[in-house]
Amino acid sequence: MARIAVVAGDGIGPEVVAQARKVIDAVLPGVEATEYDLGAARWHRTGEVLPDSVLSELAGHDAILLGAVGDPTVPPGVLERGLLLKLRFAFDQYVNLRPSRLWPGTAGPLANVKPGEVDLVVVREGTEGLYAGAGGTLHRDTPAEVATEESLNTRHGVERVIRDAFARAGRREQRKVTLVHKTNVLTHAGSLWARAFEAVAAEHPDVTTEYQHVDAAAMFLVTQPQRYDVVVTDNLFGDILTDIAAAVTGGIGLAASGCINPDGRYPSMFEPVHGSAPDIAGKGVADPVAAVLSAALLLDQLGHPEAAARVTDAVATELASRAPGVPLNTAEVGDRLAGYAVA
Ligand code: NAD
Ligand code: IPM
Ligand code: MN
Repeated sequence: MARIAVVAGDGIGPEVVAQARKVIDAVLPGVEATEYDLGAARWHRTGEVLPDSVLSELAGHDAILLGAVGDPTVPPGVLERGLLLKLRFAFDQYVNLRPSRLWPGTAGPLANVKPGEVDLVVVREGTEGLYAGAGGTLHRDTPAEVATEESLNTRHGVERVIRDAFARAGRREQRKVTLVHKTNVLTHAGSLWARAFEAVAAEHPDVTTEYQHVDAAAMFLVTQPQRYDVVVTDNLFGDILTDIAAAVTGGIGLAASGCINPDGRYPSMFEPVHGSAPDIAGKGVADPVAAVLSAALLLDQLGHPEAAARVTDAVATELASRAPGVPLNTAEVGDRLAGYAVA
């Protein structure tokens, strides 16, 4: 039976992860889940963010389920870089998979888009770009202060994530990949991405391709999200575009993700796109659907597509029966989802 590590984390993380676990237990009883106490509380208590011993224990699991990390009482970056990005990098989770669909029976904010019409997936590069941490500060706290933040792009890193996007597109109905970058300004990295894209595209004559600058893509995601199938893009562009994609398909409370290590050398990690939402933490009103859909991605990755399908069907039932404007209760949604999933 699968062994998963659970990092509930901060803010609403534990609230939504508890619901994801209810649903996993309902569809796949017997999964062994080990909880790891990481995040703001541990940092305050011990000064530790992610001890090496914990990193190696996590490496021994089949997958990781993560809630969210980050807290207003901890300086920005300590947990985001030291915990979340460290896991993505250490476990070489180079495919950051972020699907968005406008669920049948639900209404998004766009008048021109009908339910069922949006079904896209962003394949966000997960281990390079501006997230690599290259750069530095000179003359700190003087009028001459200079800060640089460099984007790291390797042919290896760019090509492998583009390959993944094409392979995914080949398994989908529309079979289209959109490369999103900013080749008109970022002429070094942009050129590398464009050439790698062209080379991989040549191996996939059955897949349609297009290119968009990221500013245009941000606009089209709002005006015409239906036009996308698979989008492949750089780490930071993917971060921003997937919050937009979430907003146009029912909100950040529904957006799931998988940080995938496709070669299976390390565990993949599944987490909602959203953060720890300090503004609503502790109130029991966070939508657990994003965490539950992330759990469905986890189940699929672990070789349980039927269990995963039961979870997504349960979410479809839940979303179709929601009345607009009615506040939700996190634990009640979790109970309902677990119930639908076994019915
Ligand atoms: P956020 O996603 O936490 O919140 C943005 C807005 O969305 C807030 O108004 C919040 O209440 C709302 N929201 C988020 N999830 C929701 C849910 N499930 N149901 C209903 N509403 C929801 O982003 P932020 O405020 O920019 O970041 C807060 C903290 O989370 C920061 O420390 C940030 O670094 C961290 N963060 C972590 C992750 C992660 O762990 N993967 C992702 C994003 C942000
Ligand atoms: C996300 C988050 C993270 C990111 C942060 C918290 C490091 O915004 O998962 O989208 O930028 O990747
Ligand atoms: Mn983000």
